[in-house]
Amino acid sequence: MPDVQTQEDYWNSETGDFWAEEADRLDAILAPFLDLILAPLKGETYGHIADLGCGAGALTLAAAQQQGAGTKLTGLDLSGQMLAVAEQRAAAAGLSMTFVQGDATAAELDPPIDALISRFGIMFFEEPLPAYQKLHAKMAPCGLFSAVCWQEMLKNQWLSLPLQSVLPLLDAPPEKPDPHAPGPFAFADKARVTGILPEAGFKEVAMEPWEGTLTLPGDTLEAASAFMVYMGPVKSLIRERGLDPEKAQTAVAKAIDAACGAAPFKLGAAVWHVTANA
Ligand SMILES: C[S@@+](CC[C@H](N)C(=O)[O-])C[C@H]1O[C@@H](n2cnc3c(N)ncnc32)[C@H](O)[C@@H]1O
Repeated sequence: MPDVQTQEDYWNSETGDFWAEEADRLDAILAPFLDLILAPLKGETYGHIADLGCGAGALTLAAAQQQGAGTKLTGLDLSGQMLAVAEQRAAAAGLSMTFVQGDATAAELDPPIDALISRFGIMFFEEPLPAYQKLHAKMAPCGLFSAVCWQEMLKNQWLSLPLQSVLPLLDAPPEKPDPHAPGPFAFADKARVTGILPEAGFKEVAMEPWEGTLTLPGDTLEAASAFMVYMGPVKSLIRERGLDPEKAQTAVAKAIDAACGAAPFKLGAAVWHVTANA
């Protein structure tokens, strides 16, 4: 993502539009992580659960369904477009929860939080240590933290394969990004995360690897490649480096075909499941 844009601008721009419009298909890709995140909460009733970077609310709704009506649910996110989808989904499901448009690094959440959960919303903070210190201060004693973040890009074939397939179309290779810059891979470095969270006050910090495959949307190569061109790293190259979208899609389709053959198109993925106690 471009340096000049703040996270707030980025998630309220066409990226927020994409995540809002494609919420159902993105949720289908990311479905395996709901149970993973919510497993440590199973069998316990939590008074207040907050979903950090809740986006279109899939995890917030799943937590509400797991916990039942006695639990207060808050979803916090920067993106107006995604929160609008979250509100609609909660209303359609008849579930009561609060969505707040705000910045997690300012910890705009009512204490005490008994469980802080997140699906890929924990690694976009410019200054993670003060952000997690503030979040920790809002938590109930021994409150639970359960979240997932991506491992490194190269272990996430579903993102790296489309990207690598379009590199020959560029006149010069993209600059190597700062691995700790706010973004999807900022918490890929286990040593970094297991340094930040304890310093912020969290105890019993653990990062368990999850490795598996994710299924790209679409029953045809055309549909799957079209989606992968309009999300993530390829989309950034189209926007920032003038990559031709049609040529990019042809290259991505060829790479998916070579890796998967027929639908369903499944590619490798690797995440960390991060758990801790306040
Ligand atoms: C990759 S999306 C994940 C969305 C959602 N959790 C899901 O799994 O579908 C990352 C989300 O984090 C949100 N986000 C990034 N920085 C944030 C911040 N400082 N405060 C609150 N939300 C933030 C973005 O707006 C975006 O919705």
